[in-house]
Amino acid sequence: MASKQMLHMNQGQEETSYARNSSAQSVEQNKMKPLIEAAILDLCSRSSTMLPTRMVIADLGCSSGPNALTLVSIAVQAIHSHYLQFVQPPPEVWVLLNDLPHNDFNTVVQSLVTLHKGNDPVVVTGVAPGLFYERLFTSGSLHLVCSSNSLHWLSKAPGVLTSNKIPAYDIDEHARLERLPIVFEAYEQQFRKDFTLFLKLRAKEQVPGGRMVISLPGRRSDQLASELCH
Ligand SMILES: C[S@@+](CC[C@H](N)C(=O)[O-])C[C@H]1O[C@@H](n2cnc3c(N)ncnc32)[C@H](O)[C@@H]1O
Repeated sequence: MASKQMLHMNQGQEETSYARNSSAQSVEQNKMKPLIEAAILDLCSRSSTMLPTRMVIADLGCSSGPNALTLVSIAVQAIHSHYLQFVQPPPEVWVLLNDLPHNDFNTVVQSLVTLHKGNDPVVVTGVAPGLFYERLFTSGSLHLVCSSNSLHWLSKAPGVLTSNKIPAYDIDEHARLERLPIVFEAYEQQFRKDFTLFLKLRAKEQVPGGRMVISLPGRRSDQLASELCH
């Protein structure tokens, strides 16, 4: 569950930091590369008669460490590669990274300078702390929204469980199995609610024809032991 007040991945560069313990997530991010490249190509070619002079790209739930920059770097590189084929200059790019306010943005900001290499394309960067279940950006401003390994974080525990003091995972196996259908149903409903809200908010913030590339972990069946997929 995501709360504005306190939650964050382990900060810094220590042994237990997210920066040093996110290689599994990095594998999933790299699977998104062709999708991000296709989205950029689509955005660029759709406006080929009227090439965009500016593009805004955001990663929602960026965390900190190397993964924070992976998706936006792929997008910037794809813009660069696409425009190398044209005489026109590439659009200026504005990269915005979002996470909860207690995320390690100090580390993120220091690494953002690596995106400013050279002036082609011009890349301007910033952070947008806040919940992605609220408005984060101005209307009609985003061309590409990316997110990896984050959207399974719900806005809150399902009310029907908290009000009845039902834990997500009961240590007592009998109670756990008995309540499993209720727990699944409650989390599924909460996810549906949160994800719908997320899409509505981003729809307001994206330019017409803007693109979104997101990946999140889930299970294909209600068996607890079933394999995770993205
Ligand atoms: C597992 S990390 C993923 C980080 C990175 N995107 C990656 O793929 O490695 C999930 C991130 O989502 C952030 N997050 C969770 N709920 C959020 C919310 N409602 N708004 C913004 N960020 C959120 C967490 O703070 C955390 O940094």
